[in-house]
Amino acid sequence: MQFELTDEQKLIQQTARDFAHGVVRPRAKELDQTGAFPSDIVKDLARLGFMGIMVSPEYGGSGLDTIAYVLAMEEIASACASTGVIMSVNNSLVCDPLSQFGSEEQKKEFLMPLAKGEKLGCFALSEPNAGSDAARQQTTAVQDGDSFVINGTKNFITNGKEADIAIVFAMTDKTKGHRGISAFIIPRDTKGFSVSRLEHKLGIRASSTAQFVLEDVRVHRKNMLAGIGDGFKVAMFTLDGGRIGIASQALGIASAALEESVEFAKQREAFGQLIHNFEAIQWMVADMATRLDAARFLTLRAAYLKDRKARFSKEAAMAKLYAAESAMWITTKAIQIHGGYGYTTDYPVERHFRDAKITEIYEGTSEIQRLVIATNIFKE
Ligand code: CAA
Repeated sequence: MQFELTDEQKLIQQTARDFAHGVVRPRAKELDQTGAFPSDIVKDLARLGFMGIMVSPEYGGSGLDTIAYVLAMEEIASACASTGVIMSVNNSLVCDPLSQFGSEEQKKEFLMPLAKGEKLGCFALSEPNAGSDAARQQTTAVQDGDSFVINGTKNFITNGKEADIAIVFAMTDKTKGHRGISAFIIPRDTKGFSVSRLEHKLGIRASSTAQFVLEDVRVHRKNMLAGIGDGFKVAMFTLDGGRIGIASQALGIASAALEESVEFAKQREAFGQLIHNFEAIQWMVADMATRLDAARFLTLRAAYLKDRKARFSKEAAMAKLYAAESAMWITTKAIQIHGGYGYTTDYPVERHFRDAKITEIYEGTSEIQRLVIATNIFKE
């Protein structure tokens, strides 16, 4: 593993940083307060090639590696965690499985507009009674001639309100457990497919989280992603990559909180001097920076392994676990350093604290990451 970024990776990082600082960051507070979807920013992300970073140029993507994706995600999420997850879901949870498992026809019809950012995607796995226990799908897909008829409820779907295309998981054979799950690519305007609820959330308020109801949604069999019964493996592979994306989002949130704490400590006076002179502040900042770097290295290692097509489930779980818990810890300390000001909406650290929490929950809770890590250790 090399520690030096390539010129191309540095360029992506700088491009993302400039865009994040110049365009996204000035809007983040307003987006958090209104909960409005940042459609103009998403269009700009598409223009920069950030909605399909790892997709081959043949299918409209930027053809870059996972390390470039991590670098870009961290920058965008440091400015606005909501924008970060919109981008992460499209890249990791939608474009990635379509690139990996899609037929040529599916890539041309669905992957290409998603990678170009002309369309937005979402990933519908979770259900009211199948969250961490993803294999317990209740949604059914019953074959009828050349089509499948899908019925069920999906929830906690990021991008659900705005998405044009959904990857939906459903049971094609209940008797086979997880081996009876299949994945379908479904345009959101398909008859019988509706948004039944939008969540009001603690953080990432400018990204929508929707519940879907599917009532007799008819999908042609050519829109099945991978083979019949392969859905659970598609979901697991996809989430391994998604966890690298969420780890990167956590890095962004934590790095913003650290940067703002350092700036605050250099300006705030107490007891006749600037507070960064106090060991109590210095030690907090030292620990914040050390945890952030450790999380960054774990995330880059997982990305490196994914790029080399090596096994990376355990490493992605470690990266997400550590980055998420570090983001929560670092944003807590950031508020502490800001004192009473940190608890107000005058400073962005309270938003970072609220945004950090979800990284411990979605795309597999911290408890699920520990389960994945331990399972892999005992299998080795
Ligand atoms: N890649 C490929 N295949 C995998 C795999 C992986 N990483 N992990 C497991 N599998 C395979 C196994 O090899 C096994 O295959 P066989 O049937 O051939 O033996 C099969 O999947 C079942 O494996 P397990 O017995 O380990 O499965 P399990 O039912 O015990 O579940 C789990 C494992 C890790 C707990 C899994 O259910 C899981 O990841 N749960 C969390 C789900 C999650 O992250 N949900 C988030 C949804 S997306 C979201 O958050 C919303 C959003 O929009 C952002």
